[in-house]
Amino acid sequence: MEMQLWREMLNPYELAVEEIVVKFNHMIKEHREQGRYSPIEQVTGRVKSIPSLLEKAKKKKIPFDEIERYIEDIAGVRIICQFVEDIETVVSLIRNRTDMEIKKEKDYITNQKPSGYRSYHMIVYYTVQTIQGPKRLNVEIQIRTLAMNFWATIEHSLQYKYKRNMPEDVKEKITNASMAIIELDRQMSEVRSEIMEVQNSFQIKANIVAEILNNIQNLYRVANRREVNKIQDEFFQIYEMNDLDQLSNFSQQLDIMTEGYKAQSIAISSVEKNCKSSSY
Ligand code: GTP
Ligand code: MG
Repeated sequence: MEMQLWREMLNPYELAVEEIVVKFNHMIKEHREQGRYSPIEQVTGRVKSIPSLLEKAKKKKIPFDEIERYIEDIAGVRIICQFVEDIETVVSLIRNRTDMEIKKEKDYITNQKPSGYRSYHMIVYYTVQTIQGPKRLNVEIQIRTLAMNFWATIEHSLQYKYKRNMPEDVKEKITNASMAIIELDRQMSEVRSEIMEVQNSFQIKANIVAEILNNIQNLYRVANRREVNKIQDEFFQIYEMNDLDQLSNFSQQLDIMTEGYKAQSIAISSVEKNCKSSSY
């Protein structure tokens, strides 16, 4: 196949990866903006390069015109979670989406691979819109923890270095490391609720502070400057206290006050408008 045709074939896969990465990043944003813990920590994506597609087709004896049918990871998306428990949450989020249809799932966490590899894999059908019309593609989604990703990255480099001939001592080290990763994930799970709490309250605080600052900025436009400075000082004092309840109370009061000023300024401007129109 000519280079140009390969490019054309891969183009919709690039679109699929870009779209899906955007969508998962928005999921993170949605969680954080609502002050909720995000089960997704990071998302990355890639389209398989032409040389590695050729290599895989050769190895699996797949004719070139059947590549799209039989190679399911031309488009690949990787979702990294903090904790093992988050993986299940992400899997159900994906199962419930209407823009991705599950083709197959492979649970290499319950059934670890002989290499020591652990991850949850989903092959989904995803439709992109091209100038030739809609195109339904296979996309591989790998879901793993930060620790699993660390292990898989190192092991992948070793595989690449040694091809099929990894020395026994290296094999043993990487197998031992995979057991250490299981233990690490297990211990992290034990502190999960505490970490989630901290991260949650951090996010909630950040959201409240952003809202307060926004309100103060708006007040400068409608209220007396001295009064706003006083409010700002009060905010700094409360902020220093590091008490989420106090901060939240302050934010609510500020909301009411801002609404009041807004109503006042609308009333004033409508009176002004009436005065102007009556002078005609
Ligand atoms: P390929 O392995 O992709 O040829 O197809 P398959 O049908 O066997 O899929 P499988 O689910 O075994 O693997 C899909 C992908 O998971 C691979 O392309 C890798 O990215 C990853 N993977 C699978 N096994 C291992 C492993 O032992 N080590 C590492 N580092 N990654 C692995
Ligand atoms: Mg494989």
